[in-house]
Amino acid sequence: MIKENLTQYAKNFDKNVDAFFSNNSSEYEIITNACKYSLLLGGKRIRPFLINRFYKLCGGTDNASFNFEAAIECIHTYSLIHDDLPCMDDDDMRRGKPACHKKFGEAYALLAGDALLTSAWSIAAQTKDIDSNLVLKAIKELADYSGINGMIGGQTVDLLYENKNADVEILKLICSLKTGALIKAACKIGCILAGADQDKISAAEKYADCLGLAFQIVDDILDEISTEEQLGKPIHSDKENNKSTFVSLWGIEKSRKLVKELTEEAIKQLDVFGEAANELKLFANYLCAREY
Ligand code: IPE
Ligand code: IPE
Ligand code: MG
Ligand code: MG
Ligand code: MG
Repeated sequence: MIKENLTQYAKNFDKNVDAFFSNNSSEYEIITNACKYSLLLGGKRIRPFLINRFYKLCGGTDNASFNFEAAIECIHTYSLIHDDLPCMDDDDMRRGKPACHKKFGEAYALLAGDALLTSAWSIAAQTKDIDSNLVLKAIKELADYSGINGMIGGQTVDLLYENKNADVEILKLICSLKTGALIKAACKIGCILAGADQDKISAAEKYADCLGLAFQIVDDILDEISTEEQLGKPIHSDKENNKSTFVSLWGIEKSRKLVKELTEEAIKQLDVFGEAANELKLFANYLCAREY
C-alpha cells in the first residue's frame, strides 16, 4: 500500500513540476533542458512526499504546499548533479540515465545545479494560500538545512574523510547532514506550512533525525550489495572513492541493525499524532527495507 501511495504521489508530482521550468530565449534553452533532464529523470520523490504528508497530518487540506514540494526536489536534484561531478564522486549514471555532466558536459551540469538551486527560491516564494509569515519561516528552514550547517556541511565532511577512518560520531555527522538535513527540512516544512504547534514540529524533527540517518546508511548498504540496474546509479562508488561509511566501519550486518533501531525509534516519535500518522510509520519501514 505505501509503495503504491508513493508511486501515485511521484506520478502526480512529475506531471506538475514541469510547469515551473521555461526559458524566455531559445538561446539558453540548453540549461532549461539540463535542469528538466535531471529533475524529470525519475527519483523516488521522498522529500516532497514528506512535506506533503506532514502538511496533511498537521491539518493542511489543499495543495498549497506543492511549491515547497517542488522546491525541495529542485535542491535535492541540484545536490545530486553536483555530487556526481568528476571533482566530487565522479559517477556517470544517475536515476537510470547518464548523469547530467555526461549528457550535457561538466560546465552545463554545474550551471544546471546552480539554476535548480536558485529556481527553488523563486518557486517557494510564489506559494499561494498560506500565510506569508509561515512561507518566510519555511524558506529560512529550507535555506538553513541546505547550506553550511546542513547538506553542504555534510558533503564537506564526506569529502574531508575520504581516505581516512571516520569514527561513529563523524559518520553520524556526515549522514545526518548530507542527507538527514534535507529530510528534516521536509518534515518540518510540512508542519510549519500547516501552522502546526511546536510539539508537533518537535515530534516531526525527531522522526526525521532517525529517518534521515537510517536512509543514508541504507544508501551506503545498497552501494555495497545492490546492482546498478536496480539503483540506477553506479555501485561500489563509496569503495572506489575510499569513503568513510557505516558499511566500511561496521560491515553490512551491524549497519543493518542500526537502521532497524533507528526505524523503530522514528516510528515511536509519531505516536503523538495518533492513527493519522500510520502512513508515515509504514513509510519509515518501507525506507528501511527498500532495495533501491
Ligand atoms: C540519493 O537520494 C542521495 C542520497 C541523499 C542518499 P535518493 O535515494 O532519494 O535519490 P532519488 O531522488 O530517489 O534519485
Ligand atoms: C550524497 O550521498 C548525498 C547528497 C547530498 C547528494 P551519496 O554520494 O552517497 O549519494 P549517491 O549514492 O551518490 O546517491
Ligand atoms: Mg557523495
Ligand atoms: Mg554520490
Ligand atoms: Mg551513496
